[in-house]
Amino acid sequence: MRRLLVAGLACALVVPTAMARTIPSPNQRPAPGNEEPQTPIAEAGYSNHVNYELQCAGCHLGDGMGSKANDVPRMKDFVGNFLKVEGGREFLIRVPGMSMSALNDAQLASLVNWLMRPDGMAGASVPEHFKPFTREEVAAVRHKAMLNLPGTRAKLIAQMRTQGIEINDGMDD
Ligand code: HEC
Repeated sequence: MRRLLVAGLACALVVPTAMARTIPSPNQRPAPGNEEPQTPIAEAGYSNHVNYELQCAGCHLGDGMGSKANDVPRMKDFVGNFLKVEGGREFLIRVPGMSMSALNDAQLASLVNWLMRPDGMAGASVPEHFKPFTREEVAAVRHKAMLNLPGTRAKLIAQMRTQGIEINDGMDD
């Protein structure tokens, strides 16, 4: 009986170790036709539109309408207003969706300029003398942490209100 108990205990200890596997298996091979390692998006050379679809549209939606239910503000016909208030230009680059994306500085500058195009998402909300973002400008502000994002955003929105700008960010209605 005692021997049986000892044997049982030994089995209980040995079996899980024997069953443990390395994941992924070192013997695993890529599926046929899929042998090429993936190119990181920062090196892939996609268009702004594709970069937007891959990195932003999951939250902001394809047309930039955002989603109040998910606390994602509307960019369409609104986001350009941030360029009209003090600190707003920098804010656009420092929001986490931008600053922490997998895109490099030049791609981010190009993407935000694409959003601000007259026929782009920001539409008529962009101020008349919009100065395009450069890679250097993005690099200079991108890594400055924003400690109080909701507070910072609320102050920018308040500045817009004092300028009589209609707050059409989809968050209040
Ligand atoms: C995980 C969801 C998510 C992703 C992905 C994301 N964003 Fe955002 N974005 C938000 C939210 C939420 C806000 C509101 C501010 C905040 O809480 O970060 C925001 C704010 C912004 C703003 C400032 C406008 C405003 O009204 O606050 C810009 C510009 C912006 N995002 C652009 C982008 C771009 C461009 C990408 C892709 C590179 C991107 N975002 C990816 C969720 C996201």
